[in-house]
Amino acid sequence: MQLLESLLFLVKLEGGCRHPGVTPSPECTEAQCPVPDITHGQLKPAQNLTYGSTATLECDAGYIPVGATTTVRCLSAGRWHPRVPACTLGHCPYPPAVDHADRNPQRSFPVGATVTYFCRAGYTLLPEVSPITTCLKNFTWSVIPKLCQKVQCPSPVIHHGREVSPRKAEYTFGHQVEFQCEPGYVLRGSQRGQCWSDGTWRPPAPYCDKVCGPPPTIASGQHSALGAEQFPYGLEVKYSCVEGLSLIGDESIYCTSDDGVNLTWSGPAPECRVVRCPKPAVERGRMTPQRFTFPYGAAVRFSCDEGFVLRGDAESRCLADSAWHPPLPTCQPVLCPQPQVANGRLKSTLDGKMWYQTNATVTFECLHGYHFADDGDMSLEGSWTATCLPDGSWTPLPKCRKEGDSDVCEEVDYIKTAFGCGVPIAEMKTLLEIQKLFLEIKKLKVELGNLNE
Ligand SMILES: *[C@@H]1O[C@H](CO)[C@@H](O)[C@H](O)[C@H]1NC(C)=O
Ligand SMILES: *[C@@H]1O[C@H](CO)[C@@H](O)[C@H](O)[C@H]1NC(C)=O
Ligand SMILES: *[C@@H]1O[C@H](CO)[C@@H](O)[C@H](O)[C@H]1NC(C)=O
Ligand SMILES: *[C@@H]1O[C@H](CO)[C@@H](O)[C@H](O)[C@H]1NC(C)=O
Repeated sequence: MQLLESLLFLVKLEGGCRHPGVTPSPECTEAQCPVPDITHGQLKPAQNLTYGSTATLECDAGYIPVGATTTVRCLSAGRWHPRVPACTLGHCPYPPAVDHADRNPQRSFPVGATVTYFCRAGYTLLPEVSPITTCLKNFTWSVIPKLCQKVQCPSPVIHHGREVSPRKAEYTFGHQVEFQCEPGYVLRGSQRGQCWSDGTWRPPAPYCDKVCGPPPTIASGQHSALGAEQFPYGLEVKYSCVEGLSLIGDESIYCTSDDGVNLTWSGPAPECRVVRCPKPAVERGRMTPQRFTFPYGAAVRFSCDEGFVLRGDAESRCLADSAWHPPLPTCQPVLCPQPQVANGRLKSTLDGKMWYQTNATVTFECLHGYHFADDGDMSLEGSWTATCLPDGSWTPLPKCRKEGDSDVCEEVDYIKTAFGCGVPIAEMKTLLEIQKLFLEIKKLKVELGNLNE
């Protein structure tokens, strides 16, 4: 084969140099293959590509030959065999795995491509480190330094408390701690915490809150927090006494603060004592509710019989000293004040007193020139009797009127009474008309009298 090619080449040379009928060329040179134009590569050697010589394809950095054959031979016809291959962009292998990091999800890595890494949850990028790697021209990845470090949480600090788990120089993601408070303090929040991926403690670190000391104990009684170990702010403790004893003081106390810092109980504990008040006796009076025992705190109300009035407080309470507070009231007889009648007087001067008891009677007479306006049941021959009522008022008192104009007066009085009751406008008008009429009659009478003088 090679022989045949050589022969053909020689034949070609013969034909070229000694063309029949043409003056032969002075010189013949050896045939060469053309230098091929290869993008991103070239043949080596690049000169003296004469018949039978071989050349090798060399691609530029970052490029690789297409196909397996890279060596070509120059044939007699000035052709290369096999055909001159091409160069294509090379690729990097999969980028390396980086501790605690993931990369963006591309699948093809040609030379020049970049890959970015991201730290996984709980890790952060180290400062001044680039998370980007590049596919180099020698098909390796640029150096990737250590990228990610564990997230750190601040050291947990709790006042008046401590960490039960051994203390660490630093606390990183996933670290768990447990807390405890000093005696006299109570833990508020979670006893355990974990350093979270965002660098915070979850749940947040607790705090230690002051507590009250145990509540005071009392003789013959007990409190509701028996057996409890901690008495936090706001806790209420209720006391009770053994049966038959009364609880003196506040039934419950609570853990509070006087100064905003230290905690104390809101007050002293109550006492358990025997308290029995005597049956309350109020002469001429009654008590409600009806009861037969009068222990501490029992309250009773008093009212008086008819004709008697209560002096003192209507309600009283049995207190710790086994006495009634305020002191029991008394029932005093109701008194009527001395009755006053205009233009009248008491018939007997012996009757002249400031106050009259219920059922007391007084008798009136009118002054000279006056007479009783109303001849009702109360008035006898020239005298009028009134009785002091149990409510401190008198039975109706008489009215003494000037003799002569009794009719007019009566009418006027009648109108006054009617006005007092609030009559309808129309009726009042009529009444006023009547009053006017009577006033005119009175005026006429006066004028007639003047004429008669
Ligand atoms: C080409 O080959 C000839 C003969 O072998 C040699 O004399 C010449 O120097 C070569 N040319 C180059 C550029 O290498
Ligand atoms: C690839 O190239 C880089 C920079 O040009 C060099 O640091 C590295 O050592 C090379 N890698 C290999 C395997 O040759
Ligand atoms: C709280 O109690 C402590 C100990 O009894 C005392 O030293 C401190 O002064 C108190 N704090 C206040 C604000 O009173
Ligand atoms: C007043 O008289 C009435 C009727 O006689 C009697 O029932 C009542 O008890 C008397 N009241 C007093 C306070 O004496």
